[in-house]
Amino acid sequence: MKVRVGVVGCGVVGTGTVELLLRNRELIRKRTGVDFELVKVADIDWEREREFHVPEELRTTNYKEVLTESDLVVELVGGRDFAKRLILEAIDMGKHVVTANKHLLAVEGEEILMRAREKGVRVGFEASVGGGIPVVRSLREGLVGNRIRAIYGILNGTTNYILTRMFEEGLSFEKALKEAKEKGYAEADPSLDVDGWDAAHKITILASFAFGRYFPFSEVYVEGIRGVESLDVDLGKELGYTLKLLAIAKMVDSEVEIRVHPTFIHSEEALAKVSGVYNAIMIEGDFVGKTMFYGQGAGSRPTASAVVSDIVGVGVSIACGHAPEITPVNWEEGTVKVRKNFYSRYYLRFSVPDRPGVLASISRVLADFNISIAAVLQKEMVCEIAGVKGPIVPLVILTHKAYEEDVQKALKEIENLPVVVGKPVLIRVEEEAE
Ligand SMILES: NC(=O)c1ccc[n+]([C@@H]2O[C@H](COP(=O)([O-])OP(=O)(O)OC[C@H]3O[C@@H](n4cnc5c(N)ncnc54)[C@H](OP(=O)(O)O)[C@@H]3O)[C@@H](O)[C@H]2O)c1
Repeated sequence: MKVRVGVVGCGVVGTGTVELLLRNRELIRKRTGVDFELVKVADIDWEREREFHVPEELRTTNYKEVLTESDLVVELVGGRDFAKRLILEAIDMGKHVVTANKHLLAVEGEEILMRAREKGVRVGFEASVGGGIPVVRSLREGLVGNRIRAIYGILNGTTNYILTRMFEEGLSFEKALKEAKEKGYAEADPSLDVDGWDAAHKITILASFAFGRYFPFSEVYVEGIRGVESLDVDLGKELGYTLKLLAIAKMVDSEVEIRVHPTFIHSEEALAKVSGVYNAIMIEGDFVGKTMFYGQGAGSRPTASAVVSDIVGVGVSIACGHAPEITPVNWEEGTVKVRKNFYSRYYLRFSVPDRPGVLASISRVLADFNISIAAVLQKEMVCEIAGVKGPIVPLVILTHKAYEEDVQKALKEIENLPVVVGKPVLIRVEEEAE
């Protein structure tokens, strides 16, 4: 049995995918009994140097040739408009599709997967989350017998690199970002990564599989790491915590919290030890308990490995006469609600004058909102705050679990206390991610 594969977009991931399909064609044929023949590769620019030489006879600048000549179309262009058009066109022509496009899937996944279902074709998107880590397949197949309780992911290598450098070397956010750019770990415009959007796209996809319905991307709470100060990374470290940009999707009282934000986790936890550009995902199921996936979340070859795993999965199902695909829709009949009033522990930092009574006035407000204090840390260091007379010190309060709405209201009141200078800092603390 032969499956004809065509690739559109021969950039970072496309080049790796072409190389893998050509180099390991025989190995894959022996393992699967299916011959995956690369028939066409489309890109708009063939002048550019690539890590791997794509044979002339496979090249085209016209993506339509890929559509007509392949059984399976691999979209590796990225972006939204063209990629969506291409994928829908392929589906309408009865072609199976593989894509790594997390942005498109998070925002338009429902339309694409519904169309594919209507047309009886499959859409693979393993590479859209976690690069080379086979997490989508694990969730979809390996853990299919479980009710998923929670997913905690370090899903963005750029931000994990920046936070690792801030934690290990005490660098400021700006310095760590500059370093990440110099090493090629951050784009010239890093907003998609540092503002949390990339991780949010990925957790939207995972949450859909975990909790049985499509979650509109707009329902995901997103906060990036741009505002993170090295002072908080250091104070958290003193309290035994490591700061990570954590993507969380978890069941709380029959509702789902889906959120991405800087999060303190215990430094002893496995996720806290994931450093540099690596990704890791912890999934908790009712029967399996906790499982952890770790690996390279981006890059040409790791991502190509995931793309090819989809190509093979889809191709083998074509060869076997279309095994039905497991999609997220309707497992829970679309009833699971997204909960905005998170229930979490909090790290709160206030800038205050070093004098008696300050802690009492802050804790009174917290008590008024049912927020109980778990620990307090006041440093003798003096912060320089422009326009303020006298020494100002950081006062950190760790709370027990509290409702986010209560915490936000309390902070508004505390901000107006005469003893508090500037805006308080709030960082959520996650205890279960271990
Ligand atoms: N890079 C990673 O590590 C990684 C990891 C996981 C997932 N992904 C996802 O994989 C996808 C591809 O990412 P990438 O990093 O490989 O991007 P990339 O390097 O920018 O590659 C995209 C390629 O598509 C070409 N292209 C643009 N418009 C086209 C068109 N109309 N027809 C044919 N080719 C066209 C681009 O050419 P020009 O450069 O000339 O515009 C470029 O060569 C994205 O969805 C991304 O989110 C990437």
